[in-house]
Amino acid sequence: MDTIRHFTKVFKCTYIHLFIYCLILFSDSVVPSSSIVKSLPGFPGPLPFNLETGYIAVDEKEDVQFFYYFVESEGSPRDDPLMLWFTGGPFCSGFSSLAIGIGPILFNKIEYNGSLPTLTLNPNSWTKAASIIFIDAPAGSGFSYSRSLEGYQTGELLLAHQIFNFLKKWLLSHPKFISNPLYLGGQSYGGIIIPLVAQEVAKSIEAGHTPKFNFRGYLLGNPLTDLNIDWNSNVSFAHRMGLIPDELYEAVKITCKEQYRGNYDKNSSCANNLNAILHCTEKLNDQHILEPKCTTYTANGKTEFINRKSLLEKPSPDFPEFECRSYNSLLIHSWANNEAVQRALHIQKGTIETWIRCPDNVPHKFQATSVILYHQHLHSRGYKALIYSGDHDMLVPYIGTQTWIKSLNIPIVSTWRPWLVNDQIAGVVDIQPRSTGLRSAFPCSKDGSRTTLSNSTYCTETIIFAAASVFPLQPQTDPRPANISAAAGLAEPKQFVRCVF
Ligand SMILES: *[C@@H]1O[C@H](CO)[C@@H](O)[C@H](O)[C@H]1NC(C)=O
Ligand SMILES: *[C@@H]1O[C@H](CO)[C@@H](O)[C@H](O)[C@H]1NC(C)=O
Ligand SMILES: *[C@@H]1O[C@H](CO)[C@@H](O)[C@H](O)[C@H]1NC(C)=O
Ligand SMILES: *[C@@H]1O[C@H](CO)[C@@H](O)[C@H](O)[C@H]1NC(C)=O
Ligand SMILES: *[C@@H]1O[C@H](CO)[C@@H](O)[C@H](O)[C@H]1NC(C)=O
Repeated sequence: MDTIRHFTKVFKCTYIHLFIYCLILFSDSVVPSSSIVKSLPGFPGPLPFNLETGYIAVDEKEDVQFFYYFVESEGSPRDDPLMLWFTGGPFCSGFSSLAIGIGPILFNKIEYNGSLPTLTLNPNSWTKAASIIFIDAPAGSGFSYSRSLEGYQTGELLLAHQIFNFLKKWLLSHPKFISNPLYLGGQSYGGIIIPLVAQEVAKSIEAGHTPKFNFRGYLLGNPLTDLNIDWNSNVSFAHRMGLIPDELYEAVKITCKEQYRGNYDKNSSCANNLNAILHCTEKLNDQHILEPKCTTYTANGKTEFINRKSLLEKPSPDFPEFECRSYNSLLIHSWANNEAVQRALHIQKGTIETWIRCPDNVPHKFQATSVILYHQHLHSRGYKALIYSGDHDMLVPYIGTQTWIKSLNIPIVSTWRPWLVNDQIAGVVDIQPRSTGLRSAFPCSKDGSRTTLSNSTYCTETIIFAAASVFPLQPQTDPRPANISAAAGLAEPKQFVRCVF
């Protein structure tokens, strides 16, 4: 409740801010800086999509500069939706999503030998059907920075407000996109931030402020939403996945009274049971329980390699194994810290020391313990939401997501049904509300999804779908999935997309 109250206070200031921003936009010294990027080192030839990068100041003093990558839709940018995407982490650079996620490029997975890692096109980029702004936020993430030390101090409410300011100023400096349908998107930790931003946008619309956001809704993947629900759900997740015995599960439920967080001191039998569970699960890769647990490539101050020499000294303690997904982080790190790359991206010299994909030293206040109320408010205002989950994520397990969605008490329009692709089950879908719907979709296949569906247009990891009634994606080569949204009166989903954290 506190967060909501605080939020209203923050919101009131924006009216004043808006006036200041209008002045700013007409004075050339502080117009947001943006550049068109025609080619990128490591990618052969000119880029076959339109990429713009730039900085936008998001605070009153113009100290805090958010860096962004804007990829214009490769479909019909005039009509396609515009989406602002916030990468999770917390604090992971938006470039993660652009280059190893939903964006138009991928890294060629070639063993690093000191040369610049090379890029290729992602055939399943969401930018085939939507224009997407990928941001580095807060200051200290990716290429975003602050001119003052205090600008690095941040918290969830402030960050959401800064992202809202960013969006407002971005639209004012790109007026041709103001009328496009607007969506917000994110995953994992983005589940906390996006609803806060969405609420600011909704309030701005209600107050009749400029710009007139054509805001339609938001999409979230394995979103952290309610710390208690989400973090409590990993014990039942472990049980449902067959990782712990029934007897232990029954015992832990009773001894811990189904509250598994912070219970170690309370009751020794509860603590013993939790330890027994941890013993069974701690060696798993909790981001994807079927993938090997690899060395995490953090590249933070402490464990940093910067120069090429130390990078080649294998095995280094933070050097991921080649087979691992985290190997991408190493390629990204080496690419983004290359001087020619930074020149191509129009990075302002001297603004950051080392680009780190997911820094862990941002002075950020974790404030929200639950954003369920925000979902409720947004739903009652008629905004759409697509909540999708992968069933192998143990950090934000789908079980917690189902629990909080159920707590919204939104009537179910269509119950679980298989989601077919090429006649194979790719997942299940559950459509919740009326025509303005909150929709949740859960994959039900286990290993089948990875073997039979592994190299197609849908996910290779836990997330089997991210579909399209929220914003329509153009069909590519694959046949369409089942017409799951007809019952909810939503637009027809057109394609599965690949989504990799
Ligand atoms: C590294 O490998 C790439 C691709 O095989 C090659 O083009 C490049 O010359 C190599 N660089 C070095 C320094 O060996
Ligand atoms: C722990 O909780 C269980 C179930 O409520 C109870 O039977 C047991 O006596 C408690 N143990 C301790 C040490 O408090
Ligand atoms: C479940 O999540 C909590 C909080 O993040 C963590 O402390 C605990 O170790 C996790 N338990 C398992 C079995 O993964
Ligand atoms: C993977 O893609 C290749 C090339 O398109 C295709 O021949 C193969 O059948 C696909 N495998 C699966 C499991 O879909
Ligand atoms: C899906 O459902 C919609 C709404 O009922 C309908 O207009 C559309 O033709 C259907 N598409 C397919 C492929 O069945």
